[in-house]
Amino acid sequence: MDSDRKPLEDVIPDTYNSRERFLAACARKPLSRPPIWVMRQAGRYLPEYRELKGKYDFVTMVQTPELATRVTLQPIQRFGFDAAIMFSDILVIPEAMGQPYSFRKQGGIAMEYAVSSQTQIDALTPENIPEKLNYVAETIKLTRKELGDKTALIGFGGAPWTLAVYMVEGGSSAHFAKIKSLFYSAPDLFESLMRKVTTALIRYFEMQIASGVDAIQLFDSWGSLLTENSYWDASGKYLAEIVSAVNKRVPMILFSKGTHHWVDKLRRINCDVYSLDWTASLAKFHDAMGGRVAVQGNLDPVVLNTEPEIVRREALKILNDFGTRKGHIFNLGHGILPDAKIACVEELISTVQSYNIR
Ligand code: CP3
Repeated sequence: MDSDRKPLEDVIPDTYNSRERFLAACARKPLSRPPIWVMRQAGRYLPEYRELKGKYDFVTMVQTPELATRVTLQPIQRFGFDAAIMFSDILVIPEAMGQPYSFRKQGGIAMEYAVSSQTQIDALTPENIPEKLNYVAETIKLTRKELGDKTALIGFGGAPWTLAVYMVEGGSSAHFAKIKSLFYSAPDLFESLMRKVTTALIRYFEMQIASGVDAIQLFDSWGSLLTENSYWDASGKYLAEIVSAVNKRVPMILFSKGTHHWVDKLRRINCDVYSLDWTASLAKFHDAMGGRVAVQGNLDPVVLNTEPEIVRREALKILNDFGTRKGHIFNLGHGILPDAKIACVEELISTVQSYNIR
């Protein structure tokens, strides 16, 4: 009977390869199962990463396209994730503008200095981004060549707010008093810093798109430091400016940690995909956005430090809870931890990749 017939799109067999599946999820097309990748999938939990890290330091790996490509491909070759994320760091932007970063022995980030004056802000050079970060363009091209059209390739950058946190605090911080004080009490200084960072990011993303990325993820890992009233002025409006400049050439994913309650502000940023931490319900957020965006997430990363049967149980909760809604990319709620177990990651991939929504 005609009235029983499903819409044509729902009966098309789902024969997508990984890249097509990833892009279809971003565009909220019906899929038999979501694509999967995990934040920080190339990192210290992988023995092959630790081996390479024994020979080269982090910054050398990031700045050498052959090494960065090798690291990007490691989790794809081992697990068959549906998307690769280029191996780099959000801190290459301050570095390219003249403020280098390094790692503290006890863990955490150390910037070479803390930005505190107009003179220091004036000295930052967003104009040089394409030349200074040419190694990122080379990494993207090399990785694309290796992946072909089979696996999606994600580019990324830090949100202006999250980068400003590191730049003004001078590295990892406990109370974030410097960046918040700058925002509250020196709006002109704050604005001129954000202009430089936003300009740099727009140039950087133009370059990533020209080099062949399929999507871009914005990391606003420190979004939740802000109040609901300040989120738009301190972070959201700069993100919206970047998304508008990219102008739908590739899907934009926003990971804004701890802010999923601020639905109206997130909607105004106008991303295609919202990556949610583990405290959110993917289904509730998707419904609150009127089903007009895709979501990414949101297994608690600590689950991957437990046991495979627990991984399967928790992953199925997320899959079943999202149900037949359209637009889900399976991921973690934040980066995978260094003590995640390989067997748990294997179980996660097989649970998601063998899942069938119907
Ligand atoms: O997801 C991926 O696999 C791509 C690579 C990637 C890295 N950093 C590699 C990396 C991505 C997307 C990032 C983003 C990043 N970098 C963010 C936003 C995401 C988040 O986790 O919130 C932030 C805040 C940074 C800054 C940064 N870089 C931190 C806080 C650290 C950890 C410092 C510490 O205490 O160890 C890094 C280092 C870093 N970046 C590592 C990796 C794999 C670990 C370096 C190592 O020890 O090998």
